[in-house]
Amino acid sequence: MIVTGKGGVGKTSLAAALALLSARRGSRTVLVTFDREDTDHSIFGVRLKYQPKEVHERLAVSRVDAFEAVREYVRRKMPFSSLYEGFFEGRVFRVFAAATPGFEELMCLGKLYDLAMGSGFDRVIFDAPSSGHVKILLGVPDATLKVVQVGPLNHNARKIQHLLWDADKTRIIVAAVPEEMAIREALELACYCRDERRMAVGPLILNQVVRKRFSSAEMELLTGMDTPSEVLRAAIGAAQSEYQLASVQDQARQGMTPWPDVLEVPRILPDEESDGGSSRTLIDEMADPLRILFGNPS
Ligand SMILES: Nc1ncnc2c1ncn2[C@@H]1O[C@H](COP(=O)(O)OP(=O)(O)OP(=O)(O)O)[C@@H](O)[C@H]1O
Ligand SMILES: [Mg+2]
Repeated sequence: MIVTGKGGVGKTSLAAALALLSARRGSRTVLVTFDREDTDHSIFGVRLKYQPKEVHERLAVSRVDAFEAVREYVRRKMPFSSLYEGFFEGRVFRVFAAATPGFEELMCLGKLYDLAMGSGFDRVIFDAPSSGHVKILLGVPDATLKVVQVGPLNHNARKIQHLLWDADKTRIIVAAVPEEMAIREALELACYCRDERRMAVGPLILNQVVRKRFSSAEMELLTGMDTPSEVLRAAIGAAQSEYQLASVQDQARQGMTPWPDVLEVPRILPDEESDGGSSRTLIDEMADPLRILFGNPS
């Protein structure tokens, strides 16, 4: 599952919620992101390393980077591989990689392929880069096949391309928030993946949805209420701004109509009671409407 969308729409949170659901449903799952350096995962709070690290029963997290992927490949494929280690650590190789379009992307996709096809995991959830970069990324295998006709690069690009095309195995999940720009970008990306990359896409996830709790008549009554209570006035103010936000979101959602399959995930209010565990609470609540993606619980 490749989770993508505009920057900041909730890709990391949604990918984490999907990964947790997948693990709870019994699949050995790895949640992966692209990162050149070890970083802390914003939800699970662990240091993300190239080697998958278990954070929950059947759930591991890891980061993929092209240089580690090349080193691992060389270690596996070449005799006396330690002779080459210095070369791959060195500046010359980094300059070569930076100057070769698509090299890093292909190596990272190769690692995702290995995780998906030969590492003992049942499912890979990829917390993918945002729209612009993911378009480039998904176009790299095809572009490589056009310019490299033989050899290991061709072989790797071909098997990655087949995995991306396989609708039973790979699926793109595009996320948006209910704002006009984010929805337009999500639809454009979804159509690109479906029509130009010929991949299985869906559902589109609309994240951070705020629902109207009052009718317009009730809202009018509340707004016209004259009360000496400061607390009540504050509550009415909060209700008004939530109502306005829900109205704006309703309007933006009209633009979602052309896509057949949309899942809505509500905006979760921060849990003030919890200390430190709030990210886990967030994804637990976000996971609820996503259950449908993994079929009925057995
Ligand atoms: N449904 C939700 N309810 C409340 N808060 C949410 C929800 N989804 C995401 N958030 C919050 O929105 C912020 C951005 O989310 P997240 O980091 O998952 O987005 P992202 O798309 O991965 O961002 P980036 O493009 O920077 O990687 C975070 O603070 C997250 O806690
Ligand atoms: Mg993110």
